[in-house]
Amino acid sequence: MKFLSKKATCNSHGQDSSYFLGWQEYEKNPYDEVQNPEGIIQMGLAENQLSFDLLESWLSENPDAAGFKKDGESIFRELALFQDYHGLPAFKNALVEFMAEIRGNKVSFSPDNLVLTAGATSANETLIFCLANPGEAILVPTPYYPGFDRDLKWRTGVEIVPIHCSSSNGFQITKPALEEAYEHARKRHLKVKGVLITNPSNPLGTTVTREELNLLINFIDAKGIHLISDEIYSGTVFDSPGFVSITEALVDRNMQNSDVWDRVHIVYSLSKDLGLPGFRVGAIYSNNKTVVAAATKMSSFGLISSQTQYLLSVMLADKEFTRNYISTNQKRLKERHDVLVLGLQDIGISCLSSNGGLFCWVDMRHLLKSSTFEAEMELWKKIVYEVKLNISPGSSCHCTEPGWFRVCFANMSEETLNLAMQRLKFFVDSTTTHRRSPGSPKKMFLTKWVFRLSSYEHEPER
Ligand SMILES: Cc1ncc(COP(=O)(O)O)c(C=O)c1O
Repeated sequence: MKFLSKKATCNSHGQDSSYFLGWQEYEKNPYDEVQNPEGIIQMGLAENQLSFDLLESWLSENPDAAGFKKDGESIFRELALFQDYHGLPAFKNALVEFMAEIRGNKVSFSPDNLVLTAGATSANETLIFCLANPGEAILVPTPYYPGFDRDLKWRTGVEIVPIHCSSSNGFQITKPALEEAYEHARKRHLKVKGVLITNPSNPLGTTVTREELNLLINFIDAKGIHLISDEIYSGTVFDSPGFVSITEALVDRNMQNSDVWDRVHIVYSLSKDLGLPGFRVGAIYSNNKTVVAAATKMSSFGLISSQTQYLLSVMLADKEFTRNYISTNQKRLKERHDVLVLGLQDIGISCLSSNGGLFCWVDMRHLLKSSTFEAEMELWKKIVYEVKLNISPGSSCHCTEPGWFRVCFANMSEETLNLAMQRLKFFVDSTTTHRRSPGSPKKMFLTKWVFRLSSYEHEPER
């Protein structure tokens, strides 16, 4: 297109991916229990709506925090004028303590090493700007969060080289997979500057094991590169084995005085653990003074508003509240996760065993017509347009094995989740019946079975 920059017209943003296309389809026809009961149910959005009541009751008990008041006095003018990109000290203190609380206070963080950003999206991009030049590479284990194509590559000009993980070991990171990715980058003449992991993983919903963390530490040590650990889901870990943060793994190996200590950077945000993606609260935590200084300067492009910082500084400083919030939220996530896993099990669909996150990594390989990404796309379209569930196909997460889907469970009511299970069950039953008798005239028409859903609920098991 004429007169526009290459950046504005290139398509490395990734918005054509089925991950974002599914959202668009949902927007056109969103499910609503009363207004649009036959609409698409959004299961492709990793939002946490399970503990809003806790936040709301805290807000009603602490009206001053959202009302620009401190000790009963208005601080409106102070907040309106505040524009220091170092952030409000009270908020940074409260945030590092919250991060330590999530990690069972096994490690501590200094507010001096924290850079505030408008969400983890901004934190990840800022870190990439600090660590790599255009045309250099970051290794990322697959499957990975589809937003990384935008966050790590689009504006920075940096390449992602996948570390291929497979279902044979539950998609864990292995030494050969790391070495292979490194070698692959070398063959493409790309200089590798680091590895980026998500812990717990999006889309797997699993925590990275201590063995994997040690492997990664050894790898970045040997290659002289960086490690970014995106720990945005750290507060969602609801089951054993618990969350081991990269900081804990380094401290346990007494690596505070090593080179590696300065080459490990954490990304965090309150979008998932507190369920506040709209507040745009993220952070980079790094022991590298140069990275902290550069990222702080860059944070001018995406700061957190002062009233948000103020409100959250009061909320997170309330230790009784944060402790209760973290444990209650985890309990609710586990319950919800179990509803999804058991519901799917009932339909003959299994999930990768997971212990965190707001989603499950669901194995639908047996529902594919063939083991190809074309067949995965075909199944995905059926699930979106006929079953009316927006889930994310593994291909959008760069998974190398067709047939896996990410299904979110914390952005809806339990009733809606149950309805989604009913729809899926009906679809799977019809598909398998159809397959069992290929000559059968039974063809599934969406309108017919969607209308039947409410009565289906009361029908006996067939
Ligand atoms: C792994 C990961 N990193 C970063 C983000 C972006 O989060 P934020 O809303 O804080 O920008 C997400 C959101 O889904 C995510 O899953």
